[in-house]
Amino acid sequence: MSSRIGPPAPSEYFLAIGLGRLAILRYTNKEGRSKMAPVPIRSSAPGKVILFGEHAVVYGRPAIAVPVTQVRATATVKPASPGSGLTIVASDLGKSTSLATAPRDEPLAATARLTLAHISVPEPDATLTVSSTIPIASGLGSGAAVSTALVRALAGFLGCTLEPAEVSALVFEVEKIHHGTPSGIDNTVVAYEQPVYFVRGHPVERLTVGAPFTLLIGDTGIPSPTKKIVGRVRQGWQREPARYDALFDQMGDIADEARRMIETGNVGALGSLMDENHELLVELGVSSSKLDDLVETARFAGALGAKLSGAGRGGNMIALVEEDLTEEVEEALRETGAVEVIRTTITTTK
Ligand code: MEV
Repeated sequence: MSSRIGPPAPSEYFLAIGLGRLAILRYTNKEGRSKMAPVPIRSSAPGKVILFGEHAVVYGRPAIAVPVTQVRATATVKPASPGSGLTIVASDLGKSTSLATAPRDEPLAATARLTLAHISVPEPDATLTVSSTIPIASGLGSGAAVSTALVRALAGFLGCTLEPAEVSALVFEVEKIHHGTPSGIDNTVVAYEQPVYFVRGHPVERLTVGAPFTLLIGDTGIPSPTKKIVGRVRQGWQREPARYDALFDQMGDIADEARRMIETGNVGALGSLMDENHELLVELGVSSSKLDDLVETARFAGALGAKLSGAGRGGNMIALVEEDLTEEVEEALRETGAVEVIRTTITTTK
């Protein structure tokens, strides 16, 4: 029911790079220099939510994540005057920086440098503009989406189409700047833009969704700083490894069971698995009163199940809802203080 879609089989990786190089050749002029696209190139990437297994996935347990296409990051690259180099504009933040002078760990510049190094092309004279409708620090993968859109747009501008595995690997390097010790699930689900079953260090597996299901994503409006929260969990795990490993094991078992339910279209069973996963996240200490309120509210209003999603403490929660109850549950979430509610239907994509 599931099919393997990702690396790290080295042969596949080199094939992907080879294909990328071939794509560059199409834009190469007589002098053998890479030629830039004469027109603006635009790319976008979705947000994401983790359905099962956040935090446990950092410790090698399985997790499930899905793209959220209702919110997206976009990057556009346009030619600029000769000698101007690459200027990166973050339009939402009103910030502009030149690649030549940006600090090494500035995430947008780091993404551009990694991309140029990967495709072995010198800095182009161009303006690269990024923007995003994905709320920052909310568990929806905004950093991974911005990086993914940027990598694709810049590579495309330079005549190179990168495979999802290559994009994901580049974005993972940037995620390390954002998050310290990321599992790699965010860059994977965003770069592949498909529901995935993910185990750190293993080939990515694409999930076949047996029956589409609808999620409401409720935003607490409270920031969820992934790096800090993942760091706190690590301190707890170092203090009490047996207790934390037992929690991670249970979360991993839930993710495995959820995978079977998703693939066989047993949506009803997914709800109680979400409830169980939330309780374990509460025990892990990454929930908060607002997340718990929204989760309770969703269940009370008729959701099949609900849990926090992502690093926690703030950010978003998700509720599994039947079609005829979505409006009631959404209204209840807003009344309880959700600052935004996104509705998304999960289905097999591509
Ligand atoms: C962040 O979206 C999910 C965490 O599991 C961290 C990670 O996987 O890197 C909390």
